[in-house]
Amino acid sequence: MNPELNCEYPDPDEAKLIEEMVALVVGRMKPQRGRIRRAVHAKATGCVRGVFTIREHVPDTFRHGVFRQPKRSFPAIVRFSNSSEMIAPDGNGDARGMAIKLLDVDGTPAILGTGRRCQDFLTVNHPVFPFATPAEYVKFFGIRETPLLGAPLAGAWLALFHYQHLKIAAEILGAIVANPLELMYWSGSPYWLGPAGATGGQAVKYSLVPSVAEVTPLGDSGSMPDDYLSHALAHQLRSREAIFEFRVQPQTDPVAMPVEDTSVNWDEEVSKPVPVATLTIGMQDVTSAEGQALAEECEEMAFSPWNALAEHRPMGGINRLRRAVYLASQAKRAAKSWG
Ligand code: HEM
Repeated sequence: MNPELNCEYPDPDEAKLIEEMVALVVGRMKPQRGRIRRAVHAKATGCVRGVFTIREHVPDTFRHGVFRQPKRSFPAIVRFSNSSEMIAPDGNGDARGMAIKLLDVDGTPAILGTGRRCQDFLTVNHPVFPFATPAEYVKFFGIRETPLLGAPLAGAWLALFHYQHLKIAAEILGAIVANPLELMYWSGSPYWLGPAGATGGQAVKYSLVPSVAEVTPLGDSGSMPDDYLSHALAHQLRSREAIFEFRVQPQTDPVAMPVEDTSVNWDEEVSKPVPVATLTIGMQDVTSAEGQALAEECEEMAFSPWNALAEHRPMGGINRLRRAVYLASQAKRAAKSWG
């Protein structure tokens, strides 16, 4: 197959894979600290208010969806998280998530009939996902369910058949960080950016770069408090705002920068990301009654790549898989059923 730019190539077996994945993910959701948590990214390290402002100069080709109006600002809610399905000490190696929800967004949603007025951007602090396709991820997840030997067997399978992906997973799961406000974040998976539909636009990835003069040195994570990332975030925002540059990276080569393989890095030297917006997380006291109320609200909220305008429709197999999986995880949380 010779893939073309800005196109998707769904696997004919995808519907079955999605069904299997939903069952596997929901089956693992157990109550932690008194309630059913997200299937992954269970632990929040902060939930804050921000403002997302479109730059004055956005290239014409990117002026779609929320980027169509220069200088427009959207109120935003941002949830920082550790990606594990368990609530664990922050000193454990893990991917770190930043989920951004823009509010007061007008336009046609990617999933018709949802009536949501938001645009979400879900990112982690690593540019690639360790699995290429739904088929590979579902296979790995399935092996992991083997009683007693699941984790080592799944690791062995990955080592044997997808050694490069095992290396990515090891790198991600080995990462320890000092402050979620000082990290770079990437969408990892691609999105449409163009008029609603499948023509006249392009496939892009997103990334965010923090504006930091000095990065906090990493202490000895073994002797840090379990929630030191929340403390670092709270401490900074008491005296200093956090600013991120939001960038769009267009697909310029359909083979070297695939839409259907999230384990491949889109080389930022080959296709330079273009800044299109600024996310400002202003000074705030996340430990105040108001800050705590927002954190509580955030635990009930639903972030998803599919909470999107049609102009920002998620693309590629991993994103198509995510559509049903996030809804299922959110439904189980909302039902508060402990079964
Ligand atoms: C590039 C790939 C991916 C990225 C960047 C990503 C990022 C994230 C982030 C940041 C969150 C936390 C959202 C929040 O704070 O509420 C999240 C949640 C979640 N992710 Fe992903 N994710 C990816 C792929 C996947 C895949 C392949 C699956 C499974 C098929 C998955 C399943 C979930 C689930 C179930 C949740 C919790 C949903 C909820 O209950 O609200 N993710 N993801």
